[in-house]
Amino acid sequence: MQPPAEPDPAGPHVPTRVARTPVDAGTTTRANRRFWDSWAEEYQAEHASDLGRDRFVWGPEGLQEDDAHLLGDLADLVGRPVVEVGAGAAQCSRWLVARGVRAVGVDLSATQLAVSTRLDQQTSTRVPVVVADAQSLPLADGVATAAFSAYGALPFVADADRVFTEVARVLAPGGRWVVAVPHPVRWCLPDDPGPDGLVVRDSYFDRRAYVERDDAGDPVYVEHHRTVGDWVRLLVEAGFVLDDVVEPEWPEDLERTWGGWSPLRGRLVPGTAIFVTHLTR
Ligand SMILES: C[S@@+](CC[C@H](N)C(=O)[O-])C[C@H]1O[C@@H](n2cnc3c(N)ncnc32)[C@H](O)[C@@H]1O
Repeated sequence: MQPPAEPDPAGPHVPTRVARTPVDAGTTTRANRRFWDSWAEEYQAEHASDLGRDRFVWGPEGLQEDDAHLLGDLADLVGRPVVEVGAGAAQCSRWLVARGVRAVGVDLSATQLAVSTRLDQQTSTRVPVVVADAQSLPLADGVATAAFSAYGALPFVADADRVFTEVARVLAPGGRWVVAVPHPVRWCLPDDPGPDGLVVRDSYFDRRAYVERDDAGDPVYVEHHRTVGDWVRLLVEAGFVLDDVVEPEWPEDLERTWGGWSPLRGRLVPGTAIFVTHLTR
């Protein structure tokens, strides 16, 4: 999810230029590793009450796995290996580990995972974590019963197909893969929680990345857009069957904003798309 439109000028995230432009895979990954390493503490502090230490939340609408069961029956996962892709501080994995699932968190940012280790100490629930790029998972073929991602990695890679191919490789036959991303329709609208964020300004079909650059012109944050059709096509090409697309509605009683996600916009336009899939083989 894009950071707030007007970041704290004293913080590490100080873009001077914002544009929609093509960006290659290496540049994207380098920029986002630096970004998440520098922004991790601020992100975790800002969203501490939403993410908790050991809650499994799928996105800004607050949909919880405890209610949604998108990974299926939890009893079927107890004692089984499950991979969280783009885990951040691995709150979701910690929720699973506390219930007997052998969850592992993978993330590009060592600083995000350092927060995970801190949460381990605070909760006495240890989540094994690995610093790695989701485009090259350091896991053996067919080891995982399920995999999931709550806003992790997928918006931040140029080649989502590489992540899907890797996830398909590490999953056991029939394994479930559930991935939450910012809803593609949001890319038409400015990332503004207020009324200005309800005016279509960009083409939904413009696949150029959202790029923030620093004074020297180097990308410091890159996010990639795919349409709903693009996501479905990439999943099917990687060998997944699409079981559901969940678009969580904004709860009546949720009044807080999260970057561009707000009650005003959430009640009118979907903010999150969750693709629920399983491997065909
Ligand atoms: C918006 S955060 C979401 C983290 C967590 N799922 C949550 O809900 O708080 C996105 C995460 O994706 C990670 N990420 C970005 N690019 C990645 C990549 N190529 N491979 C693995 N993780 C990546 C970032 O480091 C960051 O922790």
